[in-house]
Amino acid sequence: VLPIMIDCDPGVDDAIALLLALTSPELEVLGITTVAGNVAMKHIQRNARQICELAGRPDMKVFAGCPRPLMHPLQTAEEVHGVGGLAGMTLPEPTMPLQTQHGVDFLIETLETAAAPITLATLGPLTNVAIALIKAPHIATKIERLVLMGGSTTFGNITASAEFNIYVDPHAAHVVFTSGIPLTMLGLNVTHTVLSTPTRRDRLRACGDVGAIAAQMLDFYGAEEAEQMGLPGSPLHDPCVIAYLIQPDLFTGQAVQVDVEIASPLTLGRTVVDFYPTGEPNATVITHANADGFYDLLTQRLSQLGD
Ligand code: BDR
Ligand code: CA
Repeated sequence: VLPIMIDCDPGVDDAIALLLALTSPELEVLGITTVAGNVAMKHIQRNARQICELAGRPDMKVFAGCPRPLMHPLQTAEEVHGVGGLAGMTLPEPTMPLQTQHGVDFLIETLETAAAPITLATLGPLTNVAIALIKAPHIATKIERLVLMGGSTTFGNITASAEFNIYVDPHAAHVVFTSGIPLTMLGLNVTHTVLSTPTRRDRLRACGDVGAIAAQMLDFYGAEEAEQMGLPGSPLHDPCVIAYLIQPDLFTGQAVQVDVEIASPLTLGRTVVDFYPTGEPNATVITHANADGFYDLLTQRLSQLGD
């Protein structure tokens, strides 16, 4: 069983990622930290708790982290995730508490006291991780690997050059990509091949109560964006990170050098990927996903919930 911490900004695809993680016996989720991104923190931390309860895990610890990026005002994505962040769904008010400790301090404390290095899964802007690394640089050696949804080897989504998670807090991303922590990057180049087509959504809908809720959220999620891009469904970005940790053989990748643009207004937040680095590579970039295998895994895991 792989112990992990999840940092996220739910967000519909974050929510699906949490459901996948919390139903997978291969993973032990030590805690969930939240970061402002898709919507404001007041929604994000509540959404995370609602999803834990939906997964039958009211015992999970959920923490609020940073409410804004390091330097820029927060840019949100309601048009993709809906007002409130969960596709306008009205889930029951959570009864589980929000932890009182700050998310950044939970990250630091857990890593400091861990007997062995821990894997971090990040599904939103990298603000919490950057602040943790600045506050307590010694934790870097306690991070086994950071597997992130972010960036792209090709084009962006929030701008022509940049992917949302990196664009929202490029300075935080810069801190993380220069930290020396082993990184695995799942960017748009691969998540745009993992599309929630109507057929895949219908399979989820038929697999049980929670699958039906997931499908309902996915019916809304990114529909406009997908149409604009001419895609037959929305890319299910964040759950790819969790699937990679559960079943890495669904993915293939390559060791590369990734740097984050933080100066140019035109290409701000672009992940510049060098496939032929001269020095030691700082990341593995995922270049291919088995999308059918991914949706089989997701459907099978969500079928265990509800009913
Ligand atoms: C990323 O941005 C967010 O809107 C999604 O949750 C995902 O983490 C995709 O660019
Ligand atoms: Ca996200």
